[in-house]
Amino acid sequence: MCGIVGYTGKREAYPVVLKGLKRLEYRGYDSSGIALVNASLKVYKKKGKVSELEESVIGKDTHAHTAIGHTRWATHGEPSDRNAHPHRSSGGKLAMIHNGIIENYASIKQELLKKDYEFKSDTDTEVLLNFIEDIKLHDHCSTEQALRIALKRVVGAYCILLVDEDDPETIIAARKGSPLVIGIGKGEHFLASDASPIIEYTKEVVYVNDYEIAIVKPDELVLKNLGNEKQTPFIQKLDMELAAIEKGGYEHFMLKEIYDQPDSIFDCLRGRLHANAGTITMSGVENHLPALINAHRMVMVACGTSWHAGLIAEYLFEDLCRIPVEVEYASEFRYRNPVINKGDVIIAISQSGETADTLVALENAKEKGAFIFGVVNAVGSSIARLSDAGAYTHSGPEIGVASTKAFTGQLVVLAMMAFKIGYAKGSIDNKRYMHLLTELNSIPDKVAQILKESAAAVQSVANKYKDARDFLYLGRGYNFPVALEGALKLKEISYIHAEGYPAAEMKHGPIALVDENLPVVFVATKDKYYEKIVSNIQEIKARKGKVIAVVTEGDTIISEMADDVIYVPDADEALAPLLSVIPLQLLSYYIGIAKDLDVDKPRNLAKSVTVE
Ligand code: AGP
Ligand code: GLU
Repeated sequence: MCGIVGYTGKREAYPVVLKGLKRLEYRGYDSSGIALVNASLKVYKKKGKVSELEESVIGKDTHAHTAIGHTRWATHGEPSDRNAHPHRSSGGKLAMIHNGIIENYASIKQELLKKDYEFKSDTDTEVLLNFIEDIKLHDHCSTEQALRIALKRVVGAYCILLVDEDDPETIIAARKGSPLVIGIGKGEHFLASDASPIIEYTKEVVYVNDYEIAIVKPDELVLKNLGNEKQTPFIQKLDMELAAIEKGGYEHFMLKEIYDQPDSIFDCLRGRLHANAGTITMSGVENHLPALINAHRMVMVACGTSWHAGLIAEYLFEDLCRIPVEVEYASEFRYRNPVINKGDVIIAISQSGETADTLVALENAKEKGAFIFGVVNAVGSSIARLSDAGAYTHSGPEIGVASTKAFTGQLVVLAMMAFKIGYAKGSIDNKRYMHLLTELNSIPDKVAQILKESAAAVQSVANKYKDARDFLYLGRGYNFPVALEGALKLKEISYIHAEGYPAAEMKHGPIALVDENLPVVFVATKDKYYEKIVSNIQEIKARKGKVIAVVTEGDTIISEMADDVIYVPDADEALAPLLSVIPLQLLSYYIGIAKDLDVDKPRNLAKSVTVE
């Protein structure tokens, strides 16, 4: 994780980098820091959020035209001032920030300790920095050459920015596995982990590739590979507006992003779904239709919320396309030496497109010859680039650490894929296909209706149960993964222990948890399991559990039994998760608020998990 920002040009660098760090804070907020290069090198850093750094710097000298800044999600060494980045080399002339993990840092550290190097932090980053300095002094070479030699020895992942007091206008950057974008201005350059700190200054960017080194000066950008050969930078135009990454009047990004969903879902459908004509345009699918229709097996590879989207895709593709599906946690999949055969299609699902577990799992699968289809939100991200084909979710930037609109975007893309493949394959008939298209078309309006009509009811449920110690979330069929997602959201945002379970499986164990203090959230919209879930609700009520039910409007049976009811509009069961998840997102948000927690930046988490 970690957010990285750099600037070199004519402006005062400190405010540019500080503002960039605030935009990237979703990537980690254990500590932050800035190195400013002027006649001398100044480093300011502080444990905690960027605002705490800002306060601690008031009154200090921040004048410089070149600076690098970092917001940290700790991997090596506790969150503290001394482990905060930038680190300064032993000789004091170099400063560096790093996103990633240097896996062989311990052996390099041993070598350096023998040479009497002293370390001021517990990080792997400081080890790499002193290693670079040591090579520079020992081989009498430039900082750039020393970096290149050092990186050939390094095992792990990194995006690093390095500044040298003796070369105050230059930032040297390198990446492998962690993202880096360079914004090109007039007589100035911006560097960042993603484009959000850059877009207000320029829309021309270069995405740096793995194993590339960038030497960045105000008027010049030179890209090289580790073999010191020059590379031609591929300049792209950013398709993103500043307003999309600001709160737009909402108190929190999470709330804004929940309320964005009617529009973000519409954006995902735009130009693709033509419900009246009965067509779905998705070039990523069309160009590879035979491979997708004839897939022997599909494997969904993802983490966290994106993994839940993969579980829903399992129901969609098995139900509508009759293709066997497996859903894999990326972190387990890669280490299990999985069997991947010709004819298997891997579907990678990721909001950030940078999740290290997913990325490495895909790299391994690709080596084994798998065909990879990416369902990704962040345009130009590593997973998007690694995929053989794909479809963006077009959900817009998601800043809140808890994924909301990206999840519904993933579901929409996966649903369109399943409808298109199922119809082309003949596993759904024209009537069902047309019905599904019409239903999908109505989803943005139905989401808007829930946000308008049910938010107040959800907020009062949140206030009623905010002090509960545990929550159980239950659902069946398409709504089972929604129960898992509801429980994950609650854990993340409110720090309340929550479990998601298939409603019928509950009687095989978790029912022992039920007493008068346990709120049980049932995701019980009208579908073919309705009667069954009614029985499950009775089983909870018989044991005095408190039932909160998400039901279809017009429901009179469950609404009689439940302690609290939240209504959502009717939808085909294949699309029900797009509606039933909305109250669960709101529930976790409002409980977090009621407990006065930082919902956009929950403790210990980071938005983009770029470490394995
Ligand atoms: C969701 O609320 C999470 N914070 C987390 O589980 C997330 O979904 C997971 O880390 C995967 O991220 P990705 O979609 O960017 O790959
Ligand atoms: N490994 C570095 C540290 O712990 C960087 C962490 C990261 O990228 O998340 O400071």
